[in-house]
Amino acid sequence: MNKVYIKHSVVPKLRRFTPWVYANEIDSSLEEFQSGEVVALFSKKDGFLGTAYVNPKCAIFARVLSFGKEEIGKKFFHNRIKRAIAKREALLSQTNAVRLIHSEADFLPGLIVDKYGDTLSIQINTAGMETFRELILSTLKQLVNPSWIVEKSDEHSREIEGLESKNGTLFGTPTKQFELSENGLTFLVDIEDAQKTGFYLDQRKNRAICASYIKEGDTVLDICCNAGGFGIYALAKGAKNAVFVDISESAIEQTKANLAANAIETYETYTADAFTFMKEKKYKNSFDLIVLDPPSFAKTKEQASGAKRGFKHLLMESTKAVKDGGLIALFSCSFHVGKKELLEIAMEVSHDLKVQYILLEQMQQDSDHPCLINASASFYLNGLLLRVEK
Ligand SMILES: C[S@@+](CC[C@H](N)C(=O)[O-])C[C@H]1O[C@@H](n2cnc3c(N)ncnc32)[C@H](O)[C@@H]1O
Repeated sequence: MNKVYIKHSVVPKLRRFTPWVYANEIDSSLEEFQSGEVVALFSKKDGFLGTAYVNPKCAIFARVLSFGKEEIGKKFFHNRIKRAIAKREALLSQTNAVRLIHSEADFLPGLIVDKYGDTLSIQINTAGMETFRELILSTLKQLVNPSWIVEKSDEHSREIEGLESKNGTLFGTPTKQFELSENGLTFLVDIEDAQKTGFYLDQRKNRAICASYIKEGDTVLDICCNAGGFGIYALAKGAKNAVFVDISESAIEQTKANLAANAIETYETYTADAFTFMKEKKYKNSFDLIVLDPPSFAKTKEQASGAKRGFKHLLMESTKAVKDGGLIALFSCSFHVGKKELLEIAMEVSHDLKVQYILLEQMQQDSDHPCLINASASFYLNGLLLRVEK
């Protein structure tokens, strides 16, 4: 195995189990290494630091697989995947769909696996993980015994890694519509055609938190609703009407199918851009709960200020649209607009519209999408539940 020497200043970071080494943090020449190659990380002064895979094409040059001297083979993948599966067992009392493997936070950087019943939906996002494709598949088959494995490796990160998108069946027989059951509600998921790996499983806990504030007869606006999760939870809890908005026609079709699957009949749906919709509707003091769950407006640090303007605009319009004493759930799924930034945006809107916000809940992704405290990018989903005092 080749050795990569890292700069002495980076040693403390690795000693604190931070799993990434950037290209400007190494003391070896990048050209010596192949994309996806497994290497031993060394410091000239401190010796061995870990085993990683590398990609000289990327700013994140090395991703650590193990801080110990482990062989990266069958036993390694078997142990890591088995451990990841065991950690999700408690969640299976609430749902039949969980994220089984969440990349760095399950010590398998670049690998995402979601489980929908006995279907697995997988994403391989790095050249390093790509080299272990066959081993990963055989281990998953052995440990999970799936009837279908479908690949949805179409993230932008693959392009950065020098890889092409890969989609489609890897094993078994496709299930057209999966009947996802979450906290007693039904969601129909077209795993192959839906966004991401199928369903926004990361918002499961937050859907339940928001619904816990719903009172009989409430009205709800679910903006960027995707498959309608937040609004459907609220309607099932006794809300009398929910308005669903998403820019994607297929997301709205899916929302309608999910409303029908839960025998809900009072709702409105709109296929529309959230910004235009709010501008045209000019709602005033109309809703008890508004959920704002836009896509990742900021995929890079450079896009953060534009994203913050987008959030501010949506929060202003929603603050006008919510009743005095009503609630706004404001989410960001971009690491570059985190909890601190959301609070700053809320403070600005509070000043501009002369309203007060009471912070009722600070939300994050559900536990099957774990946050690794030494990898801050794994804290990607943040939410504030605000009570608006006008
Ligand atoms: C993070 S997902 C929402 C997940 C959803 N709340 C759930 O719990 O399943 C973001 C959604 O925003 C939609 N979207 C993207 N841009 C939009 C826009 N400009 N206006 C309205 N919806 C948009 C996407 O189609 C996607 O369904």
